[in-house]
Amino acid sequence: MKNNHPGQDDQQAASAAENSATGFGRMRSKLAFDRLVAMGAKLGMENPLFLCHDKAAKATTQINGKEYINFSTYDYLDINGHPEITEEVTRAAVRYGTSAGASRLVGGERPPHRELERAFADLYGVEDCIAYVSGHAANVSTLGFLLGHRDAIFHDGLAHNSLIQGARLSGAARYSYLHNDCDSLENMLQAKRHEHKRALIVTEGLFSMDGNIPDLPRIIELKKRYDCMLLVDEAHSLGVLGPTGRGAHEFFGINPTDVDMWMSTLSKSMCGCGGFIAGRRELVEYLKYGSPGFVFSVGMPPVIAAACRKALEIMLREPQRVRRLQDISQFFVRYAAEKGLDTGAAQGYAVVPVMVGDSMLAGFLSNALFKRGIYVMPITFPAVKEGTDRLRFFISAAHTEEHVRTALDALAEELPKVCKAVEEHRRNCPDMESDG
Ligand SMILES: Cc1ncc(COP(=O)(O)O)c(C=O)c1O
Repeated sequence: MKNNHPGQDDQQAASAAENSATGFGRMRSKLAFDRLVAMGAKLGMENPLFLCHDKAAKATTQINGKEYINFSTYDYLDINGHPEITEEVTRAAVRYGTSAGASRLVGGERPPHRELERAFADLYGVEDCIAYVSGHAANVSTLGFLLGHRDAIFHDGLAHNSLIQGARLSGAARYSYLHNDCDSLENMLQAKRHEHKRALIVTEGLFSMDGNIPDLPRIIELKKRYDCMLLVDEAHSLGVLGPTGRGAHEFFGINPTDVDMWMSTLSKSMCGCGGFIAGRRELVEYLKYGSPGFVFSVGMPPVIAAACRKALEIMLREPQRVRRLQDISQFFVRYAAEKGLDTGAAQGYAVVPVMVGDSMLAGFLSNALFKRGIYVMPITFPAVKEGTDRLRFFISAAHTEEHVRTALDALAEELPKVCKAVEEHRRNCPDMESDG
């Protein structure tokens, strides 16, 4: 029967679509995000995500023609856009084009693939290396492929999403130990290791949320005692730790062959994209013939492989970049303390959070700083535990003390104002944040 109410059909159709399997607008996480954006908009807060930048993101950036001090780039060593990389990439593009054409297994390789993998194997003094097209995929595919139902993965409580996804995919039992707490790890190993065939301990070289460093020598000792493999994700420690940026093994002066898998992304200090696993030859060969993110995925574009290898060369040739990054990061932590700001567990190496403990506060602060020409992102649940919400600063070797002072002076000024505004808002609209 024809519906005589104009618009009712449309409404019914829309509601049916929303409730159907493809009604993504009704997904819980989408609703929660929409609610947050709507709430922010009502309070004059702009959505800080997906902003389009006019130029390469470096210590400063430009958005809609306006300059910002940029604390939201992984270009730790100020290498992105280096003329030698542009030259190398241009040469590689002319010779090999922009695509690897197919999975390297079937489509073959190009010299930049081999040179990149050799360079990273040499960096760690290990036998071989495998490069994936994405850092995330490197973790998902490696963990998902290497471990199985009878195995166990012991990972830090703040492990990156890619490590968790890989652990889930593997079907192995998953034990999350307290963040950066080796006693907690040891207790779990003592209680659970014997129940499983193989076991893998997973840690990061520098934790991406808190900016702190694990006790790698102790983890190595535990790995040996409990007969486990060990993977260290150096996404944020490569280029950052150690006098020449070689990462966690240089920082601690440990033998790199004590770690079974050195993983890193190529998207941070190496200014490209992709990820690698460096370790023993038989492990790399096993991954190259079986790991789905490598076998069933196109090879890394040769131009990116060439770019990342050149970035590594620049890092090793110019350790002053690493020194500058470390100096300015330490200054950041000291100056934040002077201003009474809480940098949590940060040790002053490239990643420094300023803890604010409330998601709305973090969002508003980020917005207030944006209006003052400072670009820094809020990190809230589910990326971190509720109550540990923060602004996360990524620091670059090109940041100056003036950049840091400008940002932290502004933050210290805005914090009480924003706290007051959030309190007022909560008093006036107590229902606004509750689940609708
Ligand atoms: C610790 C860690 N591992 C892996 C990844 C994934 O790397 P990519 O973004 O290069 O895919 C990230 C990304 O931020 C990370 O922080």
